[in-house]
Amino acid sequence: MGARVVYLDNAATSWPKPPCVAEAMAAFLRDSGGNPGRSGHRLSVAAGRVVAEAREAAARALGLSDPLRLAFTANATAALNVGIAGLAGPGDRIVVDAMAHNACARPLSEAARRGAEIDWAPVDGAGRLDLDLLEDLVAGRRGPGGGPGRGARVGRKAARLVVLTHGSNVSGALQDLAAVATIAELAGAVLLVDAAQTAGLEDIGLDSLPGAVVAFTGHKAMLGPGGTGGLAFGTGVDPEACAPLLRGGTGSASESEEHPAFMPDRFEAGTLNGPGLAGLLSGLSWIEASGRAELRAAELRLTERLAAGLRELPGVQVLGPRPGERRCPVLSIRAGLIDPASLALALDERHGVLCRVGLHCAPRAHRSLGTFPGGAVRLSPGPFLSDDDIDYALGAVEACLKEGTSP
Ligand SMILES: Cc1ncc(COP(=O)(O)O)c(C=O)c1O
Repeated sequence: MGARVVYLDNAATSWPKPPCVAEAMAAFLRDSGGNPGRSGHRLSVAAGRVVAEAREAAARALGLSDPLRLAFTANATAALNVGIAGLAGPGDRIVVDAMAHNACARPLSEAARRGAEIDWAPVDGAGRLDLDLLEDLVAGRRGPGGGPGRGARVGRKAARLVVLTHGSNVSGALQDLAAVATIAELAGAVLLVDAAQTAGLEDIGLDSLPGAVVAFTGHKAMLGPGGTGGLAFGTGVDPEACAPLLRGGTGSASESEEHPAFMPDRFEAGTLNGPGLAGLLSGLSWIEASGRAELRAAELRLTERLAAGLRELPGVQVLGPRPGERRCPVLSIRAGLIDPASLALALDERHGVLCRVGLHCAPRAHRSLGTFPGGAVRLSPGPFLSDDDIDYALGAVEACLKEGTSP
């Protein structure tokens, strides 16, 4: 392998982080390493201040004006588990899109075992939802699997919960969040948004989506470290109607053996990840200083450049939205009969181009795209790449296809 590394796996976790992130984490451990929200001494107060600032920054990133409606969790998976278990119960209908990550699909399988009814909303070959179909399904006018015909009254109850993959981690399809929120609201359902791929980069505008609850992660587009994420409640959803999964010490109401009902302590049992939240705060501050819209535009431009170059390579099929369509900076490819795992390995070992191969924890998404069970090679640009990096990666794919991928 040459010395050059082009990291195209930002959908798994963003890398590199802005240099200030590691510095902020080290500074937290060195200078304010008390337990946030526990003791009254200066180091605990300093740590608590970092957590409060991280909460404010994360809320701003989601367009939520009340930071106390946001609770930190270990990652998006933890937040989605809380939302799925807490916002619907046995006998409730839950509608979820067919691009869902296993972070949604597996808790939903558990919800089904406990008596919830799960309906999968189909997507097209690029991973986009048909909103008319979704509307019928959410309202109970359509049975699972698409029948009976659109608009037919089948007398099913409306969904209690709609789970939406905002941005697909496989095809990069970006769903129309406002439209889905309206569909959920009309049916009286809560909308749980899996914003793992979008929070930090896209405008979520949670203040304008009162019926939505957003699960986010800190280690992808928010540019923070692993071990950070959270759940944020729109103003129309009462967090107290969502049961926590963990109960324990919060530093508040210590006289009681009952877990506090109030936010954010309701979902923050146990010591928070102080160093991680210091890093998240730093990543979010870097995004604010750089301009979220500018970063998004730059990453989307790189993604379109990559997609356009890949489409020109013989035998390469680019999965996902067409040029200029709504998307996030993620795409996947198939290259004829070439085994995706061999292609990814050759890209890494021969060219230093790092990407992710396989089913990307989203088997149903691959079924929808026609790439199950073989999977695909995913390439996901980030904020520190240049046009030259993208052209280098394109040259590497071309070379691997010409040379063949066997060692
Ligand atoms: C769409 C989607 N949802 C959920 C997750 C889970 O995120 P986390 O690693 O923060 O638990 C991921 C991560 O790959 C993802 O891409």
